[in-house]
Amino acid sequence: MSDAEKGSVGVGLIGLGTIGTGVVKVLKQNADVIQQRLGFPLELVRVSDLDLETDRGVDLDGVTFDADSEALINDPDVDIVVELIGGFDVARRLILQSFEARKHVVTANKALLALHGAEIFGKAAQQGVDIAFEASVGGGIPILRSVREGLAANHIEALYGILNGTTNYVLTEMEATGEAFDVVLKRAQQLGYAEADPAVDVDGIDAAHKLTLLAGMSFGAQLTHKEVSTEGIRGLLPVDFEAAREMGYRIKLLGIAKLHRDGGRQRLEARVHPTLIPRSSLLANVDGVMNAVVVIGDAVGETLFYGPGAGEMPTASAVVADLMEIAREIRRGTAGRVAPLSYLPEVLERKPLVPLGELFGRFYLRFTALDRSGVLGHLTGVLGENEIGIESILQKGQGEAAQSESGGATGSVPVCVLTHPTREAAVRSALERIDELPDVTAPTRLLRIEERF
Ligand code: HSE
Repeated sequence: MSDAEKGSVGVGLIGLGTIGTGVVKVLKQNADVIQQRLGFPLELVRVSDLDLETDRGVDLDGVTFDADSEALINDPDVDIVVELIGGFDVARRLILQSFEARKHVVTANKALLALHGAEIFGKAAQQGVDIAFEASVGGGIPILRSVREGLAANHIEALYGILNGTTNYVLTEMEATGEAFDVVLKRAQQLGYAEADPAVDVDGIDAAHKLTLLAGMSFGAQLTHKEVSTEGIRGLLPVDFEAAREMGYRIKLLGIAKLHRDGGRQRLEARVHPTLIPRSSLLANVDGVMNAVVVIGDAVGETLFYGPGAGEMPTASAVVADLMEIAREIRRGTAGRVAPLSYLPEVLERKPLVPLGELFGRFYLRFTALDRSGVLGHLTGVLGENEIGIESILQKGQGEAAQSESGGATGSVPVCVLTHPTREAAVRSALERIDELPDVTAPTRLLRIEERF
């Protein structure tokens, strides 16, 4: 039966996990508003999952439910396939099979798109079908749609995002309670926001996946997450939060992307790392598992998007919004004509990346050094030889507590320094020498600072 003849647009859902269950709930609970907005119903016609036993607390009301995802893809009543199994190989195969079968696809699979985006977007364009992935970045925040449509008239200059709820929760709690990293991470995992492998959150990889998609869409850049310079939140100590507070900052894991236009030459800055940002900024006050993204466009100026970055219903809200957009296009006969990354495929290009050594700004340095006279002189001497000025210096604590916190040898204490603006390359070469000094008992921690908020 053709779409025009059918009363509804049919949805097939692969993966009935947390988000998939949320999608079933939203389609059911909000069927009225969905129909009022579309003018026709969005009908869940088929679900597949390998686990047919677990009670998810949703009634599938006679919807076909089995483990046969290929039959789902080829079911003539399915117009749009929702891929929510995550992971790489199987998800990639099912998405490509859906395109072959001329089915549109909605996915939340940021990891897959951040690595195989070029192939997947290219195949969708070849087959004349849509792929939508709003839920893959910022959970329920409509950030991709906003960049693609609401800000489409702008040259985007920069974006700064708190893109991972788990790490934002850990940082918020470490600062508020003074508890150690491991203790707080365990609590975050219990809350159910963490990825199956928490290292993907903690080491900044999940944020890098999301930044890759955002930067691709904002700057027309072909990029994989492997090119994004990525550093996680392991090794941060309560003393870092204390020192940052005294210096007027909070610590957030930021995804940062900027486009450098030097004459006709464009270069991309793309990095994820814990960052000190001014305490008074809006972004610094995004706490717990919430996400937020600042997008700066040449016409609009600075915009801020805030909301729940994870969770069953917020993420399902984004998936169903994608379904509605594609369903509307199917009805208008325009499906498959919107470029997934907003830019036309022929103008997407790889852009050289700006090396971290070129970054210019203030830096926070936590040295771990023996608590004896003359040590400060040795540290500041090497910084001075590299023309790095010091704005403030804090020596936190004495004795056993400070020593065990800083991870250095007996008698060590953390010494926290805020530099004047300088190049990262200069700081790196100073640290190479400082970490060799006999007074210094553990590697120095460098944190970057972003002042523009
Ligand atoms: N693990 C992710 C987070 C889930 O903590 O933000 C949403 O992508």
